Amino acid sequence: VRAETTIYQGNIFHFTDDPSINSNAYQYIENGGLVIEKGIVKDIISESDLTKYQDRAKIIDYSGKIIFPGFIDLHIHYPQTEMIASHGEELLEWLREYTFPTEKKFSDKAYAKEVANFFIKQLYKNGTTSALVFGTVHPESVNALFEVAEREKMRLIAGKVLMDRNAPDYLQDSAESGYAESKTLIERWHNRGRLSYAITPRFAPTSTPQQLELAAKLLNEFPGIYMQTHLAENRKEVEWVKQLFPQARSYLDVYSLYGLNRDRSIFAHAIYVDNMDLQSIAKAGSAIAFCPSSNLFLGSGLFPLYKAESHAVDVGFGTDVGAGTSFSMFQTMADAYKVIQLQKSMGENTRVRSLSPFKAFYLATLGAAKSLNIENKIGNFEKGREADFIVIDLEATDLLKFRMKHAKNLEEQLFALQILGDDRSIYRTYISGEQK
Ligand code: GUN
Ligand code: ZN
Repeated sequence: VRAETTIYQGNIFHFTDDPSINSNAYQYIENGGLVIEKGIVKDIISESDLTKYQDRAKIIDYSGKIIFPGFIDLHIHYPQTEMIASHGEELLEWLREYTFPTEKKFSDKAYAKEVANFFIKQLYKNGTTSALVFGTVHPESVNALFEVAEREKMRLIAGKVLMDRNAPDYLQDSAESGYAESKTLIERWHNRGRLSYAITPRFAPTSTPQQLELAAKLLNEFPGIYMQTHLAENRKEVEWVKQLFPQARSYLDVYSLYGLNRDRSIFAHAIYVDNMDLQSIAKAGSAIAFCPSSNLFLGSGLFPLYKAESHAVDVGFGTDVGAGTSFSMFQTMADAYKVIQLQKSMGENTRVRSLSPFKAFYLATLGAAKSLNIENKIGNFEKGREADFIVIDLEATDLLKFRMKHAKNLEEQLFALQILGDDRSIYRTYISGEQK
């Protein structure tokens, strides 16, 4: 052990597998230590081993608190931070009334930078250490965000929106300019430090077939980059896609036909999908971002997590700010729980079971990392992982403190946190071993 070793003492908790498949999927070490060297996880040790390290390592005492991997947000729009909580519309009207006028402002790099700084701070406050993020159609918006993330040494994936039809003129690119600008951004940012690029066609209705083809061309030219888009979120949107792409069997099939359903593709929402779609997603190795807060807020619908699970589809959570109403993964997990309670009570399928807190905390960390194919880098505390972690205060509010006194075990503690927790429950956030 060298001098630069730091040990974070507390209740160490992380997942090594999916708890709905493996009953032995997590590790919980009461009053243990997370050993970090140069921003990398070296070990997890028990209380008795702590004393052995005493003279050789710096020990930071978080006794009584939970030390957990940082949350990973699989779907969020940083330019929509300022329009979170905009009243009363469904998706398509909401985009026209609130979203597009807001995104117009991001042609201004200085403005974009200001919002990017605020946005990243909100992620930290909420214990989110990694995210897959939409910019706007303007390359400046992505440059601004990546500059902030690079300074912060954050593992962040983002991309410029592609949109060459069915949107206001001031927010459109063309198939060619979208291709060229994306390419320039990839060459500048992809694999620079911890940053990765995601090709970002907004959704099928706002791209011409030619633009979708060029998006796939980029994916072929730059192996390792991501693809993020929206899929089957709203009934009217689904109808619209049917009219625009009559040759496709389903909404997902549009993306499949144009070569955009593949490993490292992340589809947000995916509410209106059938068994063939889910099979196709599982086979392609793509993944779904479950965005319960947004789906409730816009009245979009209830994502069938149980169906995705039965097809072994990779899933993680997206807050989907600004259609989602919170940056907090706790609040997102709370909404997910309530969505599944509704599905259960509506009785459409007897296989639906309540969302366990273990599954929820898994989806917010290792599940998301697997969806992004970076489970060898983040998502848990196996040796060699990057040291993105959070310290959770179980007693951050009077109510939580009172409730925790009556929690009988870890599962009850986690569930109370999931339902009642918010940014106040995040005591510390560490990125690459540095406190934020
Ligand atoms: N579909 C297309 N664009 C958007 C967006 O910005 N937010 C959400 N929730 N859905 C979309
Ligand atoms: Zn979205």
